[in-house]
Amino acid sequence: MPSTLILNIKCLVNTRNESHLLHGKELANLPCINNAYLFIENGTIVAYGSMDESPLEKFKSSEIIDAEEATVMPTWCDSHTHLVFATSRENEFVDKIKGKSYAEIAASGGGILNSAKAIANATEDDLYNSAYKRLEEVIQLGTGAIEIKSGYGLSVEAELKMLRVIKKLKANSPIPIKATFLGAHTYPIAYKENHQGYIDEIIQQMLPVIAKEQLADYIDVFCETGFFSKEETETICKAGIEYGLKPKIHANQLHLSGGTEIGVQLNAISVDHLETMDETSIATLAKSNTIGTLLPTAAFFLRMHYQPARELINAGCAIALASDYNPGSSPSGNMNLVVAMSCIQMKMLPEEAINAATINGAYAMELGHELGSITVGKKANLIFTKPLPSLAYMPYAFGSNLIDKVMINGYFYIP
Ligand code: NIG
Ligand code: FE
Repeated sequence: MPSTLILNIKCLVNTRNESHLLHGKELANLPCINNAYLFIENGTIVAYGSMDESPLEKFKSSEIIDAEEATVMPTWCDSHTHLVFATSRENEFVDKIKGKSYAEIAASGGGILNSAKAIANATEDDLYNSAYKRLEEVIQLGTGAIEIKSGYGLSVEAELKMLRVIKKLKANSPIPIKATFLGAHTYPIAYKENHQGYIDEIIQQMLPVIAKEQLADYIDVFCETGFFSKEETETICKAGIEYGLKPKIHANQLHLSGGTEIGVQLNAISVDHLETMDETSIATLAKSNTIGTLLPTAAFFLRMHYQPARELINAGCAIALASDYNPGSSPSGNMNLVVAMSCIQMKMLPEEAINAATINGAYAMELGHELGSITVGKKANLIFTKPLPSLAYMPYAFGSNLIDKVMINGYFYIP
């Protein structure tokens, strides 16, 4: 059985005997062991502790790694991405610089519809190859589990094409992937005046095939003014639930859309975005087990106000952080930047941001039992940092690449 003993870890981050979803104040507690060792067998964490425990005498290991000055932490768990897309959209980026808003671009047939046109013309192989390259890039940036959505298809054929690409990525990826069906991302042009027609297509034609071919783990709806109403979101999510897909909803991005309330009511795994929250929606989320997933790089890219992280944490919500990697509102899957931005712009403590991007991110993909913390029995998906003066240096030095190596399933990752 292959085993690895890692010695002289400057700081072993997020060490937990047991793990659970962190709410409110719990997020500020990030247990660490200074001058630590970690013992891995078959890609699984078997033991860890202080170097004072003489690990070299305790463990027989096939490989020994001296971590020297590295801090070792669980890899990022990125629970919200749109990693599969056919083309970038920097033309809209320039339009936004010139003054157009995201909503204006979408209303004039750009935005998501632009990505849908490109998906319709792309082959499954091309989509797979470009998405795999993005996956390799984000793993090197420290992501060790990821959720990927469809939603740029918007027709039976193209949504299924996207989901089949995600299924193939799942089969070949070294890191766990969760698939989310987001057929209800926007209304395709043909259904602009016939919302019920498209909802019927989702429910009657897409969902049965998705269930039969096991193409998705979750169902998502863009619950937003000008996109899907609260009632439409409810109808679509309930249909998904019938097929065993739990909801993860795009909620409260541009308006108080009611997405948070409907997500909580439907026991959604998460409600994501949350740029636009009021006291009632915060209180509703706080009373629930639904995770609030914050996507600060999307707020940054669209020049919106950031998510009210402090209010959400103070109210007792369970918060996760994710990249929203997509060509329209967050063309980056860099979770290091997400964590830094959360500290700089949303005033999250480094401890809170790291917990939200690791353990709570894992729970936002129902992977809390296997990832997100240094816990016996969890996967050895680990970030080895370059020498850091302290952990807070990571979000502080936001522009530097502070990752030295990434370990996936007990092996250093080489793309
Ligand atoms: O999460 N808000 C909705 N969907 C994506 C953006 C989609 C796009 O513009 O391509 C998001 O931000
Ligand atoms: Fe998104």
